[in-house]
Amino acid sequence: MKLLAIETSCDETSVAVVQDGRVLANVVASQIQLHSEYGGIVPELATRAHLRNLLPVARAALETAGVAAAELDAVAATQGPGLPNALLIGFQTGQALAFVLEKPFVGIHHHEAHLYSPWITGTPPVAEFQAFQPCVSLIVSGGHTLVVHVADWLQHRVLGSTLDDAAGECFDKVARLIGLPYPGGPEIDRLAEQGNPVAFNFPRPMLSEPSDDFSFSGLKTSVRYFLQKRPALLEDAQQVRNLCASVQAAITDVLVAKTVRAARRVGVRHVTASGGVTCNRALRAELARACAHAGLSLRLAERELCTDNAAMIGVLAARKLELGVPPTSRDAEILPNWELA
Ligand code: KG4
Ligand code: ZN
Repeated sequence: MKLLAIETSCDETSVAVVQDGRVLANVVASQIQLHSEYGGIVPELATRAHLRNLLPVARAALETAGVAAAELDAVAATQGPGLPNALLIGFQTGQALAFVLEKPFVGIHHHEAHLYSPWITGTPPVAEFQAFQPCVSLIVSGGHTLVVHVADWLQHRVLGSTLDDAAGECFDKVARLIGLPYPGGPEIDRLAEQGNPVAFNFPRPMLSEPSDDFSFSGLKTSVRYFLQKRPALLEDAQQVRNLCASVQAAITDVLVAKTVRAARRVGVRHVTASGGVTCNRALRAELARACAHAGLSLRLAERELCTDNAAMIGVLAARKLELGVPPTSRDAEILPNWELA
């Protein structure tokens, strides 16, 4: 089965072609440059860029895959959550293509797709996934921070989520306080590499509470107060690296400790992680160390598949059709605030 998938929920325009669960093409047009000078995503600009980019990206994906549009057996697109107008462009294009081709259309939950993204490169993905269940999965992106108990394909339950800012949002907001360009996560990651993670002691929010929920807005506020008291610190390049490393350590400590604790409590032997923040090298290293220490096996999404991409939408959509999940109805709407159950 050949399926074309579209992702336009935020600031990446992406189209993938998937055949029998394997990714033949995954083209991503990033809008990072466009939003960088504004210090964050400007929805109106994102919408216009998706409009401009979507058809060229789709053409490039089909060409790379060596598949003609007429050969497609199904079409999928992100249905939510995300920026409403950005979602509309991908979702409507997907629905229209499926309508013209008279093929099924599948609307996909963006975070559910992140959840299965560690398996995209499996050989074969389905068998590798099966051997790793049940597991506890951390999804960390710019919009969400979730800990999920996964029992099987499409059988998952959210154990905890953020009460305020997402982990990626915390990275981005702290970076802005430091004067780093958007998105701040990769910048902090880069500067932290030569910084001292114990130079400054920032709070580890909700670390000692038994709940699986997170809260990162207090950490961002404590960095703001910290900088107000030390305005000269930002002029010292090494102190900036130390600050980045210390903030990064606070965020990763919380993410890692709470994920491992949830895994032990629910009694699973496997942990996975995905979403943009999973690109972070300290998080990847700390998760590996903590999981090894706790006797848990770990599977991380590949770095290029951690940030938003259509391959993860396509792999999940193909699997849903394979498992007999009915296609999404022709009059379905986008769901900008769709929560993962
Ligand atoms: O999954 P994603 O591409 O988009 C959303 O669904 O939100 O995640 C984007 C987020 C941004 O907040 C970005 O700063 C963060 O992922 N991010 C990182 C790194 N690379 C991307 N955060 C920390 N370290 C990184 N290396
Ligand atoms: Zn995402």
